[in-house]
Amino acid sequence: MCATPFLRHSQRVSYGLFFQTIWQALSMLQIGQHKLINRVALAPMAGVTDLPFRRLCARFGAGLAVSEMISCNPRLRGSRKTRMRATHAGETQPRSVQIAGSDPAQMAAAAQYNVARGAQIIDINMGCPAKKVCRKAAGSALLADEALVRSILAAVVAAVDVPVTLKIRTGSSPAQRNGVSIARIAEDAGIAALAVHGRSRACGFSGDAEYDTIAAIVAATAFPVFANGDIDSPERAAAVLAHTGAAGVMVGRAARGRPWLCGQIAAYLESGQVPAAPAPGEQLRIVREHVAALHRFYGDFTGVRIARKHVAWYLQARHPQPGVERSGERRLFNSLRLPQEQLTFLAQLQRTQHDEILAA
Ligand SMILES: Cc1cc2nc3c(=O)[nH]c(=O)nc-3n(C[C@H](O)[C@H](O)[C@H](O)COP(=O)(O)O)c2cc1C
Repeated sequence: MCATPFLRHSQRVSYGLFFQTIWQALSMLQIGQHKLINRVALAPMAGVTDLPFRRLCARFGAGLAVSEMISCNPRLRGSRKTRMRATHAGETQPRSVQIAGSDPAQMAAAAQYNVARGAQIIDINMGCPAKKVCRKAAGSALLADEALVRSILAAVVAAVDVPVTLKIRTGSSPAQRNGVSIARIAEDAGIAALAVHGRSRACGFSGDAEYDTIAAIVAATAFPVFANGDIDSPERAAAVLAHTGAAGVMVGRAARGRPWLCGQIAAYLESGQVPAAPAPGEQLRIVREHVAALHRFYGDFTGVRIARKHVAWYLQARHPQPGVERSGERRLFNSLRLPQEQLTFLAQLQRTQHDEILAA
């Protein structure tokens, strides 16, 4: 069983807890010397949270935007993918770079390498269940080996003079939820903050996230903990904060196609009001700007391909009801091969949207 009936808990959230959440939201969250502008972080997502997307989310109010994971393998450092992931031009501060691997010495060297290239926080990935990562006993597979976890954390903390954070799952499997034990090891090792995805490694992404283990970790430690997993709205974020007592929330999949979501959540936690998402026409202007940034960042060939998945998420977020999604729009967009064709298509969509609003 990977799921717990969180909604029953969230329905019981009392006004007291609600105001406690608001109070916590007003006090500042700090990672080492870095004071975050709010308590809402964009989760690291390989293939999603590249520099153009992080910059967009930060502009719309994310308090922290963590990079895609970068392998600690020194042989991969020259690869185009790793070089793109280690780029921070124009990035909002603090710049948090996630590293993945299982060899303490390599992880320490990777941390130093990324700090020399502008990382202001090093985040260690022990949360990713991806086969590519776990086959090498990295990511969430490490949670089963507490001695190795301790060695990696000690090596990385000793290697750099920037704060080091850690991202974990609740444990290896529902039967082996050692998140509390790992969190204590992390705190002893000098880790500055912890993000916890409320699923075990074995759960992958199935079932609902469970927040009881996150609450237990918060109770057992004193460093800032970010609660992560299935947070897709400001109200849900407030309920998770109230349930876990976490210092902040981390938002992943729900931010795809909605770069303004972290900012909306942050505003709600501060004021109790959810600011409106940008109007549909404005959203299309933002998409166009995002797509142009992808073309510039990756170059025409790769930029056009990466733009397709982001536009699919924007279109899906615009038409969330099943069956209403304009798959025709997506198919058409996916058939375009040149950067200018993509930008012209989006400008046309924006004009159609404008005409529809005038006609309504
Ligand atoms: C496409 C994708 C890529 C991900 N890549 C990473 C990664 O590089 N590092 C990491 O620690 N977690 C990664 N994750 C996990 C997310 O950071 C997050 O913990 C997970 O999606 C749960 O949060 P959510 O329910 O808000 O999406 C990834 C998740 C997705 C969907």
